[in-house]
Amino acid sequence: MTGVRKLEHATMAVTDLEESVDCYTDVFGLDELDRRDGVVYLGCGLDENYDLALTEGGTGIEHFAIRLTDAEIDAYERRLADTEADVRRTDGAEPGQESGVRVSLPSGIDVELVSVADTRYLHPTKATADRLGVAPLDLDHINLMSDAIEEDVAFLEDHLDFDVSDEIVEEDGSTVQSWMRHGRFHHDAGFTRTDDPAETLHHIAFQFESFDHIKLFCDRLAQHGYQLEYGPSRHNAGSNLFAYFWGPGGNRIELSAEMATLDPDTETGVRVLEEESNTVSSWGGSPPKQEFLEKGS
Ligand SMILES: [Fe+2]
Ligand SMILES: [Fe+2]
Repeated sequence: MTGVRKLEHATMAVTDLEESVDCYTDVFGLDELDRRDGVVYLGCGLDENYDLALTEGGTGIEHFAIRLTDAEIDAYERRLADTEADVRRTDGAEPGQESGVRVSLPSGIDVELVSVADTRYLHPTKATADRLGVAPLDLDHINLMSDAIEEDVAFLEDHLDFDVSDEIVEEDGSTVQSWMRHGRFHHDAGFTRTDDPAETLHHIAFQFESFDHIKLFCDRLAQHGYQLEYGPSRHNAGSNLFAYFWGPGGNRIELSAEMATLDPDTETGVRVLEEESNTVSSWGGSPPKQEFLEKGS
């Protein structure tokens, strides 16, 4: 089965739903798979599972989901019942979804465990006819803004078996950023510290095949008036290639390729903020503006 123990989908608020749907379908080449109760479900088109759902009004993340098996989901539900957390079943609540369990992190962001109907691998010639060749392959990872970063990280470690792959700490040991995995990818979910509880998302990342694929997509973005905020370059954490821009509807988007895969026993890489000249790019070059490091949606 493809994508098991990997980020499966996310629901994101946008300031203008129809304008955003038009951009995600016409410019990015995503497919509109379904729309119900004001939620539009979009897929990258190489399988029939939705990757990104959009809702009207505001910005940021409502929930993100990790794909597991039905048996794993049942086991986590039993473990979560021993916590104070608010746990809900979401079986069949979204298109293509079979089992589901949703729980709120201490910061208030919801994480969901799901199994899906279409478990094929991503097959280029099985893609839907509407899909552009330059479209992203899949959702890759999500990076959240959290006003309770240490509590969120501990919750995911203690109750849902996530591991920290990398973190940046201040000299006093407090966490500034954390990157967490459930399976073999370096990170499925990252966290960036914020003092603003209204901000929930630093960026959502789509998977691209290569730097050339990112290049073609950036050309397409430029043709439609979208300019990069930072990159392209290669990250320190995860070693993935990246480029960032502010997408339609007020959320930051990352184009990502070559995310590292890790042995489950890999130790956490801990870096101290004051000792880093550029925490974002391993190639150096110009560091990002402060707004990139601190502003989310
Ligand atoms: Fe979901
Ligand atoms: Fe990222």
